[in-house]
Amino acid sequence: MDENGTAATTRSARAAAAPVTRADDAARPERRPPAAEPMFGPPPVPRAWWRRQWMVPLAVAVVGFLALSLPRYLSGDRTRTPVQLNPGFPLHYPLLVAHVMFGSIALVGVCFQMWTWLRDHHPRVHRAIGRTYIFAGVIPTGLLALAIMPFSHGPAGNAVAAVLWLTTTVAGFRAVRQRRYAAHRRWMIYSFALTMQIIWGRVMFVVLALIPGVDLSDPHTLTLVFDTAAWIGFVINLLAAQWWLERNVAVNIRRQPS
Ligand code: HEM
Repeated sequence: MDENGTAATTRSARAAAAPVTRADDAARPERRPPAAEPMFGPPPVPRAWWRRQWMVPLAVAVVGFLALSLPRYLSGDRTRTPVQLNPGFPLHYPLLVAHVMFGSIALVGVCFQMWTWLRDHHPRVHRAIGRTYIFAGVIPTGLLALAIMPFSHGPAGNAVAAVLWLTTTVAGFRAVRQRRYAAHRRWMIYSFALTMQIIWGRVMFVVLALIPGVDLSDPHTLTLVFDTAAWIGFVINLLAAQWWLERNVAVNIRRQPS
């Protein structure tokens, strides 16, 4: 190949390797990724709204959880919290209240983010709620959880869950800023699984507490039950998220018209 040909090839190789920026997107619409970039494999086949039945139980679970938890904290009456407040840590209660408030934003926000119709028809709303979910939900809730953790019951499971929650959410945000949509979707499904562990973890706590012989008045047993519930809560949710991601890829590949 002549000198010019080599130079042109090198230039185009460099251009292909360069990260795509917002300016590139605006200048060259053909570089924009498709609206619904598939995770891998062929694009997903759209499904009727009634086949996405899981949105209804999801909303019911979130509303039910908030209806049970929020009023106790909105009242400002510290005797109404089931958490044993540490007398040596005066900030325990205010930090807990802030954690619950920001956590409520995360729980409500993530329901909207998982709603396919909203994502497809109102991408701006998806972006606005996404930012609120991350910056007014996950990040303050996760950091406040880590601050309360040393004074709480069963800190090990909760600490791992909080770190994973913050990490997956920030990774998902980074991915979308870099236009890596498939990676964004995957990270955000893990983030969603970790947000929902709060509800599932509470259910597990009640189930474990009902086991005959479990005496929650014993502080060691209480810590053990809290910790076990936290671990079960987030490990099962993450496994379910991974299963769902794998299954969706397989279903989408099977459904493609041949
Ligand atoms: C991975 C995420 C989360 C972690 C690691 C976490 C961790 C914790 C910790 C350590 C406590 C204090 C327990 C104690 O002091 O003994 C707590 C309490 C609490 N958290 Fe979270 N939390 C998370 C997400 C959420 C979310 C999204 C909500 C939604 C509102 C929430 C609502 C609550 C409530 C209501 C309490 C007080 C206990 C109760 O009234 O049942 N948390 N959490």
